[in-house]
Amino acid sequence: MTVRVWDPLLRLFHWSLVAAFAVAWLTSEEGQPLHQTAGYVAAGLIGFRLIWGLIGPRYARFAQFIRGPAAVAGYLGAMLRGRERRYLGHNPAGAAMIVALLLALSGTAFTGWLIAEPTRMAMLPALPGVVSPAFADEENDEGPRGEAGEGAIEELHGALANLTLLLVVLHLGGVAIASLRHRENLPRAMVTGRKRAPGPDDIA
Ligand code: HEM
Ligand code: HEM
Repeated sequence: MTVRVWDPLLRLFHWSLVAAFAVAWLTSEEGQPLHQTAGYVAAGLIGFRLIWGLIGPRYARFAQFIRGPAAVAGYLGAMLRGRERRYLGHNPAGAAMIVALLLALSGTAFTGWLIAEPTRMAMLPALPGVVSPAFADEENDEGPRGEAGEGAIEELHGALANLTLLLVVLHLGGVAIASLRHRENLPRAMVTGRKRAPGPDDIA
């Protein structure tokens, strides 16, 4: 018997994010317009996910699956001993990975947005003063950042993209391990939305 776990919008979000990330990654060479579009799509999807995590159905809600560091460490320890319990929703380690993926993707998209237009970069040094006059740096009236600053943000953009890719590889590893351990096809569940009904030892 199976039960419905992932709602249709959550599944659409996941596979759209996979596609947007893949396109952004594959078009990251100099000056490809599709690259920026794919990056904005990823950013928009993350925006949707943040709202869905607050108002979506049970298993989409952050409050249902995000746990503290102790719970994540406890779950990873149980995994090493081959004794982790099955979760109907996201398990604590998977949840930590979701937070890491969303943060890394947000940082990648934000730094991409900054480097795509020089005036956005130029605005950066003034930002603290915009947030609060107390942070305004009156000494620094050199104006827009020079080449050095832009180069640094571009490098950061590339580094964050690489970090995201590393997290994706670990994400796939986690999905594979959990699928084997609990004898269920988790990628298929992210397509159909359905998982095996929880047993007495499972956490629903
Ligand atoms: C998930 C989203 C994104 C990923 C995975 C990604 C990935 C990358 C990667 C790997 C590079 C090459 C970096 C290097 O060679 O050091 C790059 C470059 C770049 N990205 Fe992104 N990016 C994303 C979003 C964006 C967005 C939203 C924008 C702008 C709106 C953007 C604008 C750029 C620009 C301007 C470059 C420099 C390449 C060039 O000179 O044309 N990216 N990106
Ligand atoms: C073909 C490659 C992929 C497969 C098979 C896959 C599979 C899955 C599965 C099975 C889950 C649910 C995990 C669970 O049962 O707890 C999941 C969740 C998730 N995956 Fe992937 N994934 C893939 C690629 C990616 C990529 C490339 C990203 C991001 C760039 C990503 C981001 C996420 C996020 C954010 C979630 C959480 C879903 C939510 O509740 O919003 N995945 N993935």
